[in-house]
Amino acid sequence: MSNVTVIGGNASGDLARRLARKLKAGFVGSNLRVFPDGEGKVTLLGKPKSGKIIVVNSTYPPVDSNLVYTLALISKASEYSNQITAVIPYLGYARQDREFLAGEVVTLSVIADLLKAAGASKMIVVDIHSQMGMRHFKIPIRNVSAIEELARYFKKMHLKDPLVVSPDSGGAKRAEIFAGFYGTKYIALKKQRDRRNGKVRIITSELDDVRGRDLILVDDMISTGGSIVKATEFLKKQKCRRVFVACTHALLIGDAERKIRKAGVTQIVSTNTIPGKTAAVDVAGIIAKAI
Ligand code: R5P
Repeated sequence: MSNVTVIGGNASGDLARRLARKLKAGFVGSNLRVFPDGEGKVTLLGKPKSGKIIVVNSTYPPVDSNLVYTLALISKASEYSNQITAVIPYLGYARQDREFLAGEVVTLSVIADLLKAAGASKMIVVDIHSQMGMRHFKIPIRNVSAIEELARYFKKMHLKDPLVVSPDSGGAKRAEIFAGFYGTKYIALKKQRDRRNGKVRIITSELDDVRGRDLILVDDMISTGGSIVKATEFLKKQKCRRVFVACTHALLIGDAERKIRKAGVTQIVSTNTIPGKTAAVDVAGIIAKAI
């Protein structure tokens, strides 16, 4: 792809470089300087070609800052081309896709408009929280899934009588797909979240037998770890063997990782949509295929 340039943002530099290599495209990095007042200045470290430009940047915390830097990069890229694909591997605000309580702003819709206004003509995201979120975009948007790659990673492990578990019914389809690639069965727990304070509890009472089995909890993302902690505590009470976690986006806010380990999780495996020590699965290949 000789006429294609991949631009790497501050939050996804390594992934952008990997993507450029896969696409055999040019790569232009960027620099971020944050001033004492909190404003960030983004600078392109090269000149993109006038063909297709792919801007890669996740919007994990600091979400609002990374969003502004992503918009700035897209806007700068649009000085060189009108074919701008914005690859936002982890799209912050994706959970704010509808008005859950009266008066709430559907901020994802605002962000969709901002990305278009900055100059994006297409979007690629990885495992967006819900398909419904994609409806807010007025430019073509494609959601690619890392579930097969995560399942392939787990296939290399030696698990005992494995069973795939979704921590909530909303993630049942995801667990089913993972289980299909892995070649085993799945179940979905029932979770309740208090919309006002965010606290979760597992309300499943009856469960297919998990006793003595290795379990893989599959989720799109881990934020505070509350969902995984509650699910793990419940599953451990049912006398399961080990609990592993497979998720696309590991935000692991604050001491989430410590809380998850304390609850009894043996290992967390995530992807490089968010860099970090659990990010063992590379999504550059699936993004390249989508491009
Ligand atoms: C919820 O529906 C999502 O799929 C995740 O389970 C959730 O967002 C994770 O958040 P936390 O780690 O704070 O429970």
